[in-house]
Amino acid sequence: MHIAVLAGDGIGPEVTSQAVKALRALAANGPQFTFTEAPIGDAGYDQTGDPLPEATAELAERADAVLFGAAGTYESDLRPPEARGGHALLRLRKRMDLFANFRPVFAFPELIGASTLRREVIEGVDLVVLRELTGDIYFGQPRGIVTEGGERVGFNTMRYTESEIRRVAHAGFKAAQQRRRKLCSVDKANVLETSALWREVVIEVARDYPNVELTHQYVDAACMLLIRRPRDFDVIVTGNIFGDILSDAAAMLTGSIGMLPSASLNATGQGLFEPVHGSAPDIAGKDLANPLASILSAAMMLRHSLGQPEAATRLERAVRRVLAEGLRTPDIMEPGATQVGTEAMGDAVARELARLT
Ligand code: NAI
Ligand code: MG
Repeated sequence: MHIAVLAGDGIGPEVTSQAVKALRALAANGPQFTFTEAPIGDAGYDQTGDPLPEATAELAERADAVLFGAAGTYESDLRPPEARGGHALLRLRKRMDLFANFRPVFAFPELIGASTLRREVIEGVDLVVLRELTGDIYFGQPRGIVTEGGERVGFNTMRYTESEIRRVAHAGFKAAQQRRRKLCSVDKANVLETSALWREVVIEVARDYPNVELTHQYVDAACMLLIRRPRDFDVIVTGNIFGDILSDAAAMLTGSIGMLPSASLNATGQGLFEPVHGSAPDIAGKDLANPLASILSAAMMLRHSLGQPEAATRLERAVRRVLAEGLRTPDIMEPGATQVGTEAMGDAVARELARLT
């Protein structure tokens, strides 16, 4: 199995190399992998003048799966899109048509104490945010900053086609069927036309899934409910921008954004797997980053793109064991635990994998 490794910027390379380490440890008595690395983000721009070099995009399309780190830094965020590291990821998602972004939010029992929320609220949280990834205000035209009446005006276009909504709705219902059969569609149908259409189409698609219980929430109410009664949620399906914001809020149910993996899939089953977090320039290069989001993304890759569900489960069990041993990176540190760095956390997971044969 051929994996494209696009580590990118900031902590991207640090955490991605721990995921590769884990996959190599799995390969000792399981599936075999070959890894090809390629530059993306600021690293791509610095090397080739393009944040998404053509050779990188072609490698990603050719590989069996893409393991991605993070792209962009605060400095490059301020450049025009063609020179912005973070823009590479938007382009790659669009180019590979990776419309379905699954972000599982699971409150590890071992980490309940690391959350800022009360134990009785987060215990048992097990939900998935399915964020549409190729449409919405992130891509809608026209957009820009113009001068009108002597002042600057910024504008963007929120846009969803019926077929874009329909395919992500199907993905949401299918995911719910595999889980607790509850789908909550999140929109802002009381204000936005895109959302009114979203709701209509989701209701149409629901006819194909009579065994799934469908509910609707406005995004503002959904934010509140997610913190108040997170256990009520199973699968949440929503658009690109609402999903971006909701999933960061949901991340805090697990204790740290450093624990959140994701899978972005297209209709052919190709996928890009990445931690939900960004390049974290504030902690880059200091051996402080939590690599578990990246390692758990590798597990999603094994399950969703590489047809290796047992290897995925083995990897997730290794992570649980390391947490149960009390090893913690600083973002999930709690009294009585043992603080370790990025590298040591990766080593511990690899060691547990060697034991779990
Ligand atoms: P961020 O996720 O990089 O960082 C937010 C906060 O969480 C920071 O305090 C950081 O130290 C912490 N954090 C993130 N990942 C962590 C980990 N694995 N372990 C421990 N702590 C962790 O988001 P931010 O600050 O908004 O963006 C930083 C840069 O990353 C920006 O240039 C942004 O454009 C880019 N970015 C890239 C993304 C991607 O490639 N998918 C996603 C989000 C942001
Ligand atoms: Mg985000």
